[in-house]
Amino acid sequence: MSAERIEWVISSCKLLSQIGEEFDGTMPFEGLTIGTAIHLEPKTAALLLTLQRGGAHVVSTGNLNSTQPATVAYLRDRGIQVIGEPTADPVAHAEDLRGVLEARPQLILDNGGDLFTQYLLEPYEGLLGGTEETTSGRDRLAAVRDQLQLPVLVINDSPIKQFAENTHAVGQSVFESYMRLTNRSTQGKRVIVFGYGSCGRGVAANFRNAYAQVTVLEADPVQRLEACLDGFDVSDRADALAAADVIVTVTGAPGILLAADLPALRDGVILMNAGHFPHEIEAEAILAAGSVTTAGPGLETVTLADGRRIHVAGRGHMVNLSGPSPLGNSIESMDLGFALQSRCLEAIARGQADAASVVVPVPKAIDDAVAGAYLREVVGVG
Ligand SMILES: NC(=O)c1ccc[n+]([C@@H]2O[C@H](COP(=O)([O-])OP(=O)(O)OC[C@H]3O[C@@H](n4cnc5c(N)ncnc54)[C@H](O)[C@@H]3O)[C@@H](O)[C@H]2O)c1
Repeated sequence: MSAERIEWVISSCKLLSQIGEEFDGTMPFEGLTIGTAIHLEPKTAALLLTLQRGGAHVVSTGNLNSTQPATVAYLRDRGIQVIGEPTADPVAHAEDLRGVLEARPQLILDNGGDLFTQYLLEPYEGLLGGTEETTSGRDRLAAVRDQLQLPVLVINDSPIKQFAENTHAVGQSVFESYMRLTNRSTQGKRVIVFGYGSCGRGVAANFRNAYAQVTVLEADPVQRLEACLDGFDVSDRADALAAADVIVTVTGAPGILLAADLPALRDGVILMNAGHFPHEIEAEAILAAGSVTTAGPGLETVTLADGRRIHVAGRGHMVNLSGPSPLGNSIESMDLGFALQSRCLEAIARGQADAASVVVPVPKAIDDAVAGAYLREVVGVG
């Protein structure tokens, strides 16, 4: 990706541009280090450079398997410290996380709970608190709330993140990734979506809008009822697996589709995960069940002994951040979420969130301010 393209993405982040202009004057992070472990792609570059404009020294590493080398080079050229190189190796990733925390950041911007979890293993003086971006990270950190005893604001639990990113943008980008990776049609295809949370309902809606027949397989009876009343098939898992052309997991939970499910799957089925961690589809075991060929960048085919071919996208990593030219979620949706990030980190730096705010949603006043700014700056209504 060219620097021009990265700059086009950055300049399209209208909320972050406006916050950056404000931060040039107010410098809320002057003298502070912010440590991050987040997907390093152009939209996060816009966020990290905004925090830098607020006076922060930013030390960053990526998440597993989603780091874009051009973005890393762009950030390094502009004074953001990036630890490590793109990796899908959990051991190398753990080393990079330790590298970020060696800078003893006063603020942590986490994505998946990796940095706060590592901090608890080797705590240090001076951490003021931070933010967590995702559902999966929120769940990890809620389990260690008593040990953290620091303000941690969860961007995921803002209603804005829920509807703007998780539902609308994840749904749209998972669908875009299916089209880009496979170039296959959707009309009349049978698609299973595992999970009908804030992401799953967007994924299901996008495939249905593209004339697929969508079955939702959901563990929670209330969510399952909602999927049913939204008009989705919510029938039997075994029947749905036997008929599926495409299977998408987006639950946040491990072990949703296993190698043990292989006998149930139809020839030609495409498996994609959109959940944060690559543990929803047992991709490595599935690929080890036969002979593997590459069906294109980001798409592998395992041919089983009986001749059936099973296609696996991105080795079970988040499909909308893998494969050729991954776009991730739309710029506007990430601009909204990253405006929440910037304002939450600013609140913690200014001491406006206390230690009682351990793993809690974004304060309502910040939601209101960011929603108002988007309506004014992007939509153009007062
Ligand atoms: N790909 C992306 O760009 C992106 C963006 C945001 C979030 N995420 C990730 O997507 C995942 C889901 O996020 P969410 O916000 O929708 O979470 P959520 O908690 O709102 O929804 C998850 C749903 O999955 C269901 N579920 C759990 N275990 C299940 C099982 N075994 N079978 C069927 N259903 C099951 C839950 O009952 C719940 O309804 C998380 O890992 C999150 O971090 C990905």
